[in-house]
Amino acid sequence: MTTINRNYQKLPGSYLFSTIGRKVRAYESAHPEKRVIRLGIGDVTQPLAPKILETLHKAVEEMGDAETFKGYAPDLGYEFLRNAIAENDYAARGCGISANEIFVSDGAKCDCGNIQEIFGPENVIAVCDPVYPVYVDSNVMAGRTGSFDPASQMFEKVVYMPCTKENGFLPELPETVPDLIYLCFPNNPTGAAIKKEGLQKWVDYANEHGSVILYDSAYEAYISEEGVPHSIYECEGAETCAIEFRSFSKTAGFTGLRLGYTVVPEALTVEGVRVWELWARRHGTKYNGAPYIVQRAGEAVYSGEGRRQIRTQIAWYMENARIIADGLSAAGYEVYGGVNAPYIWLRTPGMMTSWEFFDELLETANVVGTPGSGFGPHGEHYFRLTAFGRREDTVEAIARIRKLH
Ligand code: MLT
Repeated sequence: MTTINRNYQKLPGSYLFSTIGRKVRAYESAHPEKRVIRLGIGDVTQPLAPKILETLHKAVEEMGDAETFKGYAPDLGYEFLRNAIAENDYAARGCGISANEIFVSDGAKCDCGNIQEIFGPENVIAVCDPVYPVYVDSNVMAGRTGSFDPASQMFEKVVYMPCTKENGFLPELPETVPDLIYLCFPNNPTGAAIKKEGLQKWVDYANEHGSVILYDSAYEAYISEEGVPHSIYECEGAETCAIEFRSFSKTAGFTGLRLGYTVVPEALTVEGVRVWELWARRHGTKYNGAPYIVQRAGEAVYSGEGRRQIRTQIAWYMENARIIADGLSAAGYEVYGGVNAPYIWLRTPGMMTSWEFFDELLETANVVGTPGSGFGPHGEHYFRLTAFGRREDTVEAIARIRKLH
């Protein structure tokens, strides 16, 4: 008899952003006269930069010519892109990562979700709390849970590391050593950034205890402060304990194009096995590569013109972050983030739960955000707003929220 993967039944009914999407659509269909402003999911709104667009057009033309047509992409990505990444994102920052250690993919979400497959089911994972839900959900799907404690609503094999305003939203080194440690900096959802000395402690801890750090650096392009590392490989010894995920989605507005990459250093071994081999095996077996035209667009991100245009775009989103943070602070909200990340993390007023505030905002101000509790227990009484909205919507949303309390 056919059976299902029962681990899926341990998950909440739907993915956080799908639940929000459904609620918002239901509200809109009941109130078609209202103009709802979406500052929930971190989806970009600026059009592609001119250099990216020009490159895409050129690559599409190549696909229409028998001489330059491309079929399947190489398993690990085209050399032109892997070389550009190695040079610009790593060598330029003094990190010894080679093109061979870079695996091009269709985005960091898939890679963050899939990476757990190459590790054993018995591994204990540690995540920040609050946390990007993909890390936990994908491990639950794979059965890496152990028993469930209904009181705390937690799984035995998932260690939550509280990130609170008291610790500056930076997790502390766990006393019980986890096998896989998910870190995301600059952080989604809190917007917190870690300094190099702080990250070095995690690298040292992982190397000392034989843990592997899964480092999500999707928001590195938003770092504005000195001393904040863009890559975990800026820390000494990271190539023997860390895998890094990067995305073009937030860096260059590729949420609709899909492009990202994962770095698996050749020096990273677990149980004497090179993790690189396992990820390469998985990639080759289950994935046929990001489209040629999109990889060419990714290469254009590193050109002089591409860089300049993208920097302007990022600055534009960070001006939205400033508008949100300043506007809400002036209205008496407790506000965090928005300096090295395009997310504003705010305390809900009057101890409202995150979902109560979500409902109030949707129904009274017609603004959509993300309830902090959707990211984990320590996200309760917090709320996330994204800086990726349109400027006029951002300004209008803050004006509407300020009228509420
Ligand atoms: C978010 O809003 O947290 C992100 O956009 C979700 C994602 O990148 O998948």
